[in-house]
Amino acid sequence: KNKGVIFDLDGVLVDTAKFHFLAWQKLANDLGFDITETQNEQLKGVSRVKSLEKILEWGDVKLSQDQFMEQMAMKNDNYLAYICSMTKKDILPGVGTVIDYLSENSIPFALGSASKNARIILEKTDLIQRFDAVVDGNDVSKAKPNPEVFLIAAEKINIPSENCIVFEDSVAGVQAANIANMTSIGIGEKSTLHEAHYVFKDFTEIDKDFIIKLINN
Ligand code: G6P
Ligand code: MG
Repeated sequence: KNKGVIFDLDGVLVDTAKFHFLAWQKLANDLGFDITETQNEQLKGVSRVKSLEKILEWGDVKLSQDQFMEQMAMKNDNYLAYICSMTKKDILPGVGTVIDYLSENSIPFALGSASKNARIILEKTDLIQRFDAVVDGNDVSKAKPNPEVFLIAAEKINIPSENCIVFEDSVAGVQAANIANMTSIGIGEKSTLHEAHYVFKDFTEIDKDFIIKLINN
């Protein structure tokens, strides 16, 4: 019924959210402080620049423009070291079943991620050719919770916003989907993602009937 699906990447299709956390934590540690898992929830879905700004604020550290750029580059090198060995085995459980179902039923689906590394990860996991559109951190200027990334994705798959279903693991991403008038499905903890229309721990918890209902709604 003219529905479309938009997937976030990190923490939704692959478990890279933990690698982002480890790399940010190392950066903080090197600057003499630590970040908690709770603080990390506020970094999920947020662009690289915005994330570093937040972290520096938490640690009360001020950097020059050059130092800022240097820290960003080091964080990314660290992160890339984690993801370089990824394969299709790293696609999270249950994801394959859902995207197979969408393909079989000709429901278009897009990626809507803040990450500038999204394409590398989709290539490594053999997912790239399955997407009808990929919108990532290189295509947007406004970070989630701004809905820009999802609005561009909806446009690319040619589906009206209100007919789009978004899978997100971040608070900022759920907010972005809601602002875009889309149906938001949180992947993670209900307590953290309470603003989402539905929340599941992971894709193995989503049964076919739920997807069918969502698509035909
Ligand atoms: C996603 C992740 C964030 C990450 C951001 C930028 O939104 O949830 O943790 O910081 O992308 O990713 P990048 O790979 O461009 O540094
Ligand atoms: Mg995410």
